Amino acid sequence: MAHHRVAVIPGDGIGTEVIAEGLKVLRALEEVVPGLGLEFTEFPWGCGYYLEHGEMMPKDGLETLGQFDTIYLGGVGWPAKVPEEIAVRGVVLAIRTGFDQYANVRPVKPLVGAPFPLRDKDPQAIDFVVIREGTEGLYVGQGGRYMPGQAGFERWASFRPAFLKSDELAVQIGLYSEHGCRRVMEYAFDLARRRNGKRLVTSCTKVNALNYGMKLWSDIFEEVAEAYPDIRHEWMNADALAMRFVTQPEHFDVVVADNLFGDLLTDLSATLLGGLGMAAGGNIRPGGISMFEPPHGTAPDIAGRGIANPIAALLTAAMMLEELGETPPARLLEHAVADVVREGAIRTPDIGGASTTQEVGDAVANRVVAIEP
Ligand code: IPM
Ligand code: MG
Repeated sequence: MAHHRVAVIPGDGIGTEVIAEGLKVLRALEEVVPGLGLEFTEFPWGCGYYLEHGEMMPKDGLETLGQFDTIYLGGVGWPAKVPEEIAVRGVVLAIRTGFDQYANVRPVKPLVGAPFPLRDKDPQAIDFVVIREGTEGLYVGQGGRYMPGQAGFERWASFRPAFLKSDELAVQIGLYSEHGCRRVMEYAFDLARRRNGKRLVTSCTKVNALNYGMKLWSDIFEEVAEAYPDIRHEWMNADALAMRFVTQPEHFDVVVADNLFGDLLTDLSATLLGGLGMAAGGNIRPGGISMFEPPHGTAPDIAGRGIANPIAALLTAAMMLEELGETPPARLLEHAVADVVREGAIRTPDIGGASTTQEVGDAVANRVVAIEP
């Protein structure tokens, strides 16, 4: 019997609400898929934990997570109580970098019946995946702030125009390594091969302005592409690419982007799915410990009201099953979600319904046990 140890971090805000539905649906799946063997262990880490203990997770948190096969995370952040940069760096970014989860996979395939924003496009013609680099770029958290009064900087005071309060300046480093570029690009090309769709990889660059990091990125892309003569490749600057996501989304197959551009592009591409409540994501470390996390975050504005859309978390759970090698249950879960969305009677307000988070979770769980696997 398969045995998958899943570390569950519900996190904060709607994270806890959607993960509860994710676990409900996964347990329903276990009823109909004998031997699925999921074992969940929950960790109460996040901003609540921080307020009590002064840290987002225990010092040996990564070591603890290292005992598991995979991680299922809701979202972390409670800006009214904990500065965002502390919250996010303390859990989400710590795990992404700690386990070297370099391929952040975010599929864009609109479901039938989901709201769709583009008047002249056919949502069913759209089927692409964004692979966002997950460990480098502007997210490495390196740089510095240089404060007024700091040794060596007072001498600038005499040059300072009267309207500036200080000499303060900040540097934020964007780090790109050959290794980091190469592996995520290879992941993208391998995926294009496996998907066997348009067999096209699009590199998101900005080489016209970012002449070091993005230049390395673009050079490595051309090199990696040579090893995949059966896959077409192209590049676009990030600004133009963002526009094409709207004007020609059916063009794309696999898009590979650096950490920050990938972050922006995947909120944009989520609108093609009906919003962030519908968009799944996985931080993949091939052969290692991956983390599955819907990209929507904790949505403090709607937290606690029971109206968060759990679909993103459910599709994220399906990605997790797939990565665990449980492809048939993953397909079954996706099938159940697609049925519920297509039928439309039970949906949360963000996609035009009046149902609660739990009602959507119940509907999908019931569908999971009703479909013949
Ligand atoms: C995402 C989120 C995170 C990111 C935040 C919470 C740090 O926006 O997963 O897309 O920027 O990676
Ligand atoms: Mg984001």
